[in-house]
Amino acid sequence: MTQKAVLGYSGGLDTSVMIHWLKENYHVDVVCVLVDVGQPLTNLDDAVTRARKNGAAKVVVVDAKDEFARDFVAPTLKANAMYEDVYPLATSIARPLIAKHLVAVAKAEGASFIAHGCTGKGNDQVRFEVTIRALAPEIKVIAPLREWTMTRAQEIEYAAKNHVLIPDVAKKSEFSTDENLWGRSVEAGVLENPENEVVEAAYAWTTSPLNAPDHPETVTIGFQAGVPVSVNGKQLGLAELVAYLNDVAGANGVGRVDHVENRLVGIKSREVYEAPAAITLITAKKALEALTLTRDVAHYKTQLEDKFAELAYDGLWYTPLREAISAFLDNVNQWVTGEVTVKLYKGGVILAGRTAPQSLYTKHLATYDVGDTFNHKSAAGFIDIWGLPSANASKVRKQH
Ligand code: ARG
Repeated sequence: MTQKAVLGYSGGLDTSVMIHWLKENYHVDVVCVLVDVGQPLTNLDDAVTRARKNGAAKVVVVDAKDEFARDFVAPTLKANAMYEDVYPLATSIARPLIAKHLVAVAKAEGASFIAHGCTGKGNDQVRFEVTIRALAPEIKVIAPLREWTMTRAQEIEYAAKNHVLIPDVAKKSEFSTDENLWGRSVEAGVLENPENEVVEAAYAWTTSPLNAPDHPETVTIGFQAGVPVSVNGKQLGLAELVAYLNDVAGANGVGRVDHVENRLVGIKSREVYEAPAAITLITAKKALEALTLTRDVAHYKTQLEDKFAELAYDGLWYTPLREAISAFLDNVNQWVTGEVTVKLYKGGVILAGRTAPQSLYTKHLATYDVGDTFNHKSAAGFIDIWGLPSANASKVRKQH
């Protein structure tokens, strides 16, 4: 019996060509799996039809939007996670989920192989394969892009020669892109020179701040235990809420990131991101945390947030450390409930008010006005003891 390979299929150039290539080189039946993690799938039907026409034995479409939102976006937002302080990790956190579904289909189909469309110099191959190895060590991985030596242009030639149907955009775009609910990643083409300003053509989700509306869009986001649950008083599921904010914040130029990034495999690469909802939500949530968390917790958790971002980036999602950090952050976020109003304006997210039922901001302690209950007299004693070690050291050492 012919062996089966499950292919993580996106409908793009590489994975379209791969169906034919796998059959030709590995003599396998190819089961394409397209995991919907909220990427704009305007041509989903086309992608499915194309896969069949290109020789797939079967095409499975998995709607994983809500699962992605609940199990990956929510923990990532609870960590305010940004790799190298700027990248909200959209691509990184979708990989373990896609891999999980590839494994599930491979098991159900009795497939011996899982193939993916990642290059040999990126992070995504690591994320896919570390996850596959953790969940199904018996399945062998095929990474055609590490085996074939075709350039993009040669792939297009290969497709033409072998009557492989490819999407029209593949012929036009010079960029490599990846999209899901949490953001869009763009690289290659003219972006490869970090000296160049990002060309408008690289962007698809955001209006240039220069052309954005002259009036701010005001949105009030309701959070429950660190997870956004409403916009302008309307309750929304997380996937829907994120999609909505991508639209409104994107229309106001919010969420563009231009970064030279340190990849796990040792390369620096120029990456452009669009993450309107992620940037809006992280900004809003941080404002709510400032109101609701104690100073110790607020300062301490940033170390774990940075570690979370690094683990997610490095493909170590399904690991004891990431899970333990998430447990800590679940605890911290239990207090992050309330509402934040922001104005989305020409690329900026401007805070315009926050409230929390359990706000630790206490007016009668903070006020400089009447009604002040802070004990001013105790401050002198506090400073006396607080400054004692330095006063003592200065006196003894005579250094200052
Ligand atoms: N550098 C990002 C990451 O490692 C995105 C990778 C995928 N980017 C792309 N344009 N295909 O998470």
